[in-house]
Amino acid sequence: MIDLHAHLLPGLDDGARSWEEAVEMAQTAVESGIDTVAATCHANLPGRESAELVRVYRRQLEQFRELLTKERIPLQLIEGMEIMDGPELVRKLKREELLTINHTRYVLAEVRLDAPAWQIYRMLTYLLDAGYIPVLAHPERYRCVQRIPGHVKEWAAMGAVLQLDKGSIFGRFGEGAADAAAYMLDRQLASLAATDAHRADVRTLSLAPLRDLLARQYGSACPELLLRENPRRILKGQEVIRF
Ligand SMILES: [Fe+2]
Repeated sequence: MIDLHAHLLPGLDDGARSWEEAVEMAQTAVESGIDTVAATCHANLPGRESAELVRVYRRQLEQFRELLTKERIPLQLIEGMEIMDGPELVRKLKREELLTINHTRYVLAEVRLDAPAWQIYRMLTYLLDAGYIPVLAHPERYRCVQRIPGHVKEWAAMGAVLQLDKGSIFGRFGEGAADAAAYMLDRQLASLAATDAHRADVRTLSLAPLRDLLARQYGSACPELLLRENPRRILKGQEVIRF
């Protein structure tokens, strides 16, 4: 399986707190049947200079690849960031001060959980207009979606790719997120699901339980599409399969 949203590199954000924890998370990933992970870190947050973050990020990524080889953990690491909406987002992407997923046109983008719906429409519009394909991180966790789930239909129709968090489907982020996730799964509006892992012990880098749950509730084609086929297509810069 492929996980395109995980906070795996230490010292960059609120994800892994040490190299040891990062290695433990990578081990968990492999044991749960994941072979490829995008090591996404939070980016474009206020107070942090983007170009400097890219430099540090790439250094850490390379260092972690070497560490995994040394530890004989067969996990492929992919470049990517979870990019917070903010001023000059497109300009920063064009200058590589913010990174797309695996050098493709796919941009993993998020807004604050309490952001108004119009801000998401605006962000998707300017990314699409600039030729990027927004992968909207965990729409089911946004309050505006929990109030009016129908927004996600419009975002998918605009061309955005919608990414569910494992924790939402398992109810970890409350009933609102679980209901919104179910709304999207019932209507086949989500194109992929990811761990959004932050730690070795909670919000883990394991996808097997999610694969099994999705297969039980929606049939085995569902996890095949959300955890394998569509992430694979995104990594290659190909169109995702939509229904
Ligand atoms: Fe995240």
